[in-house]
Amino acid sequence: MQSIKVRDKNFSILIPEEKILERVSAVAAQISADLKDKNPLFLAVLNGSFIFAADLLRGITTPCEITFVRLASYVGTESTGKVMELIGLKEDIKGRTVVIVEDIVDSGLTMTKLLKVLKEKEPGEVRIATLLQKPECLTVPLNIDYCCFEIPNQFIIGYGLDYDGDARYLRSIYTVTD
Ligand code: IMP
Ligand code: MG
Repeated sequence: MQSIKVRDKNFSILIPEEKILERVSAVAAQISADLKDKNPLFLAVLNGSFIFAADLLRGITTPCEITFVRLASYVGTESTGKVMELIGLKEDIKGRTVVIVEDIVDSGLTMTKLLKVLKEKEPGEVRIATLLQKPECLTVPLNIDYCCFEIPNQFIIGYGLDYDGDARYLRSIYTVTD
């Protein structure tokens, strides 16, 4: 399937499934080597990262755990505007090695807020693993430890990423054409 229509937009293939799987296993091997015997806790951010997280975990070769969290942003009472709430983290991360698993880093604001919330829980170390990054769009300084693919500033779908809830099931990554 080289191109596909989702709702009102057309998309064409950007990264085929085989390339994604090859790169995800390479990143998993790197993480396994870097965090050997550290029993890392992978923190997968729902919904977008669920497929990436599943493939990444199957490539890990050192004992580890995974948990799934969700981010909810709401307008706070303070003038600072949006506040982010982390939902679903039951584990005590104090002193632990945590690896955030994200689908995509765009402006970097979501990741920055997540890091802030996690730091309050005093983890030993926090690393970031993202499937995709749009480097042109980054508005804040952010050190990404593991990035599978850097992509241009285009809207993409598939392999877990959605267009208003659609298209997460697609096995490859597609970019909008018109
Ligand atoms: P940021 O806070 O600007 O870095 O936004 C990151 C979030 O925006 C991701 O977790 C995605 O949910 C969403 N996002 C950004 N770019 C895309 C895209 O091209 N396709 C689908 N979702 C995207
Ligand atoms: Mg996301």
